[in-house]
Amino acid sequence: MFHVKHCSIYLSLVMIVWLRQRPRHAILYFLMAKIISIVNQKGGVGKTTTAINLAACLAVADLKILLLDFDPQANATSGIGIDKKTVRNSVYDSLLREVELKDTICKTEIDNLDVIPSSPDLYGAEVELVNVPSRNTQLKDRLELLKEFYDFIIIDCPPSLGLLTINSFAAADSIIIPLQCEYYALEGMTQLLTTVKSIKSSINQSLAIEGILLTMFDSRTVLSNQIYSEVKKYFKEHLLSTVIPRNIRLSEAPSHGKPIIFYAHNSKGANAYLDLAKEIIQNAKKGTWERSRSAYPV
Ligand SMILES: Nc1ncnc2c1ncn2[C@@H]1O[C@H](COP(=O)(O)OP(=O)(O)OP(=O)(O)O)[C@@H](O)[C@H]1O
Ligand SMILES: [Mg+2]
Repeated sequence: MFHVKHCSIYLSLVMIVWLRQRPRHAILYFLMAKIISIVNQKGGVGKTTTAINLAACLAVADLKILLLDFDPQANATSGIGIDKKTVRNSVYDSLLREVELKDTICKTEIDNLDVIPSSPDLYGAEVELVNVPSRNTQLKDRLELLKEFYDFIIIDCPPSLGLLTINSFAAADSIIIPLQCEYYALEGMTQLLTTVKSIKSSINQSLAIEGILLTMFDSRTVLSNQIYSEVKKYFKEHLLSTVIPRNIRLSEAPSHGKPIIFYAHNSKGANAYLDLAKEIIQNAKKGTWERSRSAYPV
């Protein structure tokens, strides 16, 4: 606990100094949360790692962050340090039971970072939601009530393009697509982008692509460099500047229930996710988000 607090103060100072170095008009004041979904129907590409670490890095920049675990595997829930056995209400209980979404929020050990946990019940939600009216916008309708309390809401999606992911598309302002630097990296991208296009023309016209995020990049391998060139060639306008390196510390951190910045704050992985947070803040600055937070819900 002391370690987390100590580290948190140091990192907060670094991020706040960075924010203050920007011209005055460039400092962010959000009115409503920007909602970012982390999506890719391919499994194991770094969605949860990105959701946890981006959320934590934004939180140390003195921004109010909600991490929503929308994957029945509940990896973000445990990875951020929530004991699944202690979870009374999960996002499932709000979607399909009478629980209000604000009553599922859990505090974390990190200042400014709250979590809505998931649970394996959510596996059933794909089927149960089918008969619910407005089934695509159930999450959006509920998140609407929480937007004024946070600066960013980060949603960790499951590895599928089913109803849960569609709900996250409907709720989001933008999506980040983690792409693992491996042989079949681009497989499924066309299908994913086609789905985004159809969501934009139907349930969420303002959905934007925040960017494609290369993950597990290993500069020593020819393959990683090939994937990088290929993505740059075909999706240049969507490629985020930050690249996440393959870093053993990133894979160790979840078993300690900590984001990388509190587990190994000097690691390459921690620096990369801090850079990603800065890039996301700068992107938000170009939008019209302003901050005037209401009283905190929990
Ligand atoms: N940059 C990285 N360096 C090293 N290991 C990583 C990195 N990013 C993720 N990993 C590891 O790769 C595995 C998959 O990552 P993660 O769980 O974030 O993927 P995911 O897309 O959320 O998976 P799923 O589709 O099952 O939800 C995990 O063991 C994670 O610790
Ligand atoms: Mg995951």
